[in-house]
Order: sequence, then C-alpha cells, then structure tokens
Amino acid sequence: MNKDIYILAIESSCDDTSASVIKNREILSNVVATQDVHKAYGGVVPELASRAHQQNIVPVVHQALEKANIAKESLNAIAFTQGPGLMGSLLVGSSFANSLAMALNIPLIAVNHMQGHILAHFIDDGKDHPNFPFLCLTVSGGHTQIVKVEDHFDMTILGETLDDAVGEAYDKTAKMLGLDYPGGPILDKLAQKGNPKAFKLTKPKVGELEFSFSGLKTNILQLIQREEKKNPNFKVEQLENICASVQYTIIGILMDKLQIAAQKTGLKEIAIAGGVSANSALREQLQKREKSHQWKVFIPKFEFCTDNAAMIAIAAYYKYQKNEFVNISTTANSRLKF
Ligand code: KG4
Ligand code: ZN
Repeated sequence: MNKDIYILAIESSCDDTSASVIKNREILSNVVATQDVHKAYGGVVPELASRAHQQNIVPVVHQALEKANIAKESLNAIAFTQGPGLMGSLLVGSSFANSLAMALNIPLIAVNHMQGHILAHFIDDGKDHPNFPFLCLTVSGGHTQIVKVEDHFDMTILGETLDDAVGEAYDKTAKMLGLDYPGGPILDKLAQKGNPKAFKLTKPKVGELEFSFSGLKTNILQLIQREEKKNPNFKVEQLENICASVQYTIIGILMDKLQIAAQKTGLKEIAIAGGVSANSALREQLQKREKSHQWKVFIPKFEFCTDNAAMIAIAAYYKYQKNEFVNISTTANSRLKF
C-alpha cells in the first residue's frame, strides 16, 4: 500500500492568511484569517495586507497543525502560493514556507494560485469532480478567466479580463451605492428583490472570449448621476432595482462568454471557482444550462471557492506525486503565469 502523504500549505496572495493540512486528497484543516482592516478603505490596501499577514501567519499555521492533529515532524512537504498576487503579501507566505521546509529538511512545493482555484475541485470531500477535459470559469475579486483544463497542470486560458475582475466590478459598484466592503454578497442579496430590467446597462464590445468591466462601472456612475439630477433620492429609492440591473448585466456577460467557450470547445463539463461562485444569479443560470444545454456543472463547497490554503494543498499533492519540488530559495512572483 502507498504511504500517506501529509502536506502543509500556505496561501497569502491577497488579503486572507490561510494554512491547510492535507492527507492525500483529504483536507484535515483549512484555517483562514480574513483581514477586516481593509473594510474602512473599501478595498485591499497592499501595505496593510502584508503587515496583517506577518501578524497572522504564525498563529494560523499553528492552528492548522493543531486542528489536523499532526506534528510538524510528520509532514512530507511544505507548499506555498508563488503567485499571482500582491508581492508584499506573497513574500510573507513564501519566506515562511522556505524557512519551515529548510528547518524540517523536507521538500518545498510552489503552487500557482489560479491553478489552485481550479484544482480545488479535486479535493476529496464526497462531491463529484469534473473529468478532463473541462472548462473552468474562475471569478473572484482578483480574477476573471475561462480556462480549458486538460489535465491537473495542463491548462489553457481561453479568455480573461482586460481590466477589472468581476468581483472588483461588484465591489466598486457597491461602493458607489454606499454599501459596505466587500459589496458583492450585499449587492447579490439586494438584487434578488429588484427588477433586473429596470435600467438598461450596456455590455462591453470586446473579443468574443474577453471580459471588460471598467466601462460598465462608468455606465453605472453615469446612470446614477443622470437620475440624481431628477431625483436626489434615486440611489436609495431605487437601490434594489439598480442592484438587480447590475447583477443581470454582469451575470449575462459571464454566461454569454461561457456559452461561446462551451460551443467552441464542444465541452459540456463546466466548473466554476473563486468567491463570485457564491452568486445566486450565476448559480441559477448555470443550473438552467444543465437542462437547456445538457451541461454538467461543478461548484465547489464555498470554503474552497474563496481564497484558501486547501486549494494550494490539493495542487501540491498532485505536484508531490510528480516530484515537482522547488529550490529552497524559490521566491514569490506576483505575475506568475500557468
Ligand atoms: O475568491 P475571493 O474570496 O478572493 C479573491 O481572490 O478576490 O473573492 C472575493 C470576491 C469579492 O469581490 C466579493 O465581493 C465577491 O467575491 N463575492 C460575490 C459574492 N460573494 C463574494 N460577488 C457577487 N455575489 C456574491 N454572492
Ligand atoms: Zn483567488
């Protein structure tokens, strides 16, 4: 019988400090410390993020080992997010992982954050996982990509955003409407009570698999400014209708592109990843396509959708199988590609 593999993974690419212990493909612990310090600024402040990572990393790793009920000495490897992400944030995780691997004299594994989001589908949690090849729509505060996944590490980006990420579009719109940060989930809730066709917003004209959300942001701002001239209480009185119209437009854009990608590749297994996977309209639309287009849709558990170290741990597990280790001096790369 094969020996069990235990890996400690660290994720620190943006504003969540996370550590996870995996035993083969099973997650034993997945601790996430979210940084509330950014709320007051309505977005992530990189300098504050790296400082908070420095404060959180030791207790988060300690808790992950404790929850998994495993001693450091039993670990087979240490994994970390190499990139993409915020440089200062990534450096905290990568230097911690380097030192720990060196102290324990065990291999070090570098993981691409975006591949981690996709490979979260392969965590052994009792749910079905997609079969290769499949499409993955990765949607979060930092990313908007459609990826063709042919194998664990054979992935091709078919299309991505030219400017803002979709979660960012949600958060920035929410900020314009006076909602708290992160605004995505709040806007989603309000949208469910409004009329999605109340206000017409324009979809961007970009390449057929490309995304762009910066024009939409301007479009929404112009709508608010124009209507406020007629009714100074417009934003408050029409809040649910504005949210519903924004949601309808954004999810419409995502579904249009996903449908083109599915058609072009002939693939019907469709996975989603990233924090925006929690969106009610996106889920509803995907479920509709299961019937109308015979898609098979895969949505990971929410804790594995948002930034977390469990997704880094599962990616590391597959790298361990291939002996894909990195030198102890391997450092972060904020613009890391697949
Ligand atoms: O994956 P994630 O936790 O972190 C990043 O890598 O960014 O994603 C967070 C993003 C935020 O922009 C948040 O507003 C958005 O996901 N989000 C949502 C919903 N829940 C989270 N956006 C729309 N609808 C939601 N229900
Ligand atoms: Zn992410």
